[in-house]
Amino acid sequence: MTGESPTERQRRVWDKAAPAYDRQIAFFERIWFGGGRDWLATRAQGRLLEVAVGTGRNLGLYPPGVAVTGVELSPEMLAIARRHAASLRLDLDLREGDAQRLPFDDASFDTVVCCLGLCTIPDPRRALAEMHRVLVPGGRLLLLDHVRSTWPPVYAGQWLLEQVTGRTAGEYFTRRQLPLVAEAGFELVESERLKAGSIERVHATKPA
Ligand SMILES: C[S@@+](CC[C@H](N)C(=O)[O-])C[C@H]1O[C@@H](n2cnc3c(N)ncnc32)[C@H](O)[C@@H]1O
Repeated sequence: MTGESPTERQRRVWDKAAPAYDRQIAFFERIWFGGGRDWLATRAQGRLLEVAVGTGRNLGLYPPGVAVTGVELSPEMLAIARRHAASLRLDLDLREGDAQRLPFDDASFDTVVCCLGLCTIPDPRRALAEMHRVLVPGGRLLLLDHVRSTWPPVYAGQWLLEQVTGRTAGEYFTRRQLPLVAEAGFELVESERLKAGSIERVHATKPA
């Protein structure tokens, strides 16, 4: 679409994808993500911001006592997250916003989660800088995403797929977030790669 910025395109793409998202992602959760949502939730604490919260699939997993705020670019994804939170009787702060310009003060969260978001946020460096800014010193960054595989045949398939999805939907399969996490000033606590290295979980902290 003429004159459309990458971020505007993401909003349009995810607004369109929203009605089918939960059904489609449930399949990949079973075969690909290896319990990653629970891995994130068990490490959550305090005031938590979920960036690119989508339809809110993690919302029911966080332990009691965690105060959740969610931010999401797509109004249609966010509407589903609000309905999901209401069905779980969760009273949360869910708001529309851009991960690359988070609408929150510096040092206002103890945990920031981003799940399957940095593969599609147009400027992942900028988003990680924002996550760093809004975390308190000593705060936790928790990421789950699909990344370029360590196995060449899978990597080749990801690269081919990305030639289409990168152009049409701004969705990338050969990105890797871990080097960007270090670049943004975080210290790594733990990371794991699964499924031929194509799934990565990261737990890092903002130095105190
Ligand atoms: C693959 S979905 C993941 C949704 C959710 N985090 C999950 O785990 O199911 C990617 C999400 O990132 C959102 N997104 C993309 N760019 C964004 C941005 N700049 N700021 C906030 N959200 C963004 C999309 O609207 C979409 O909801």
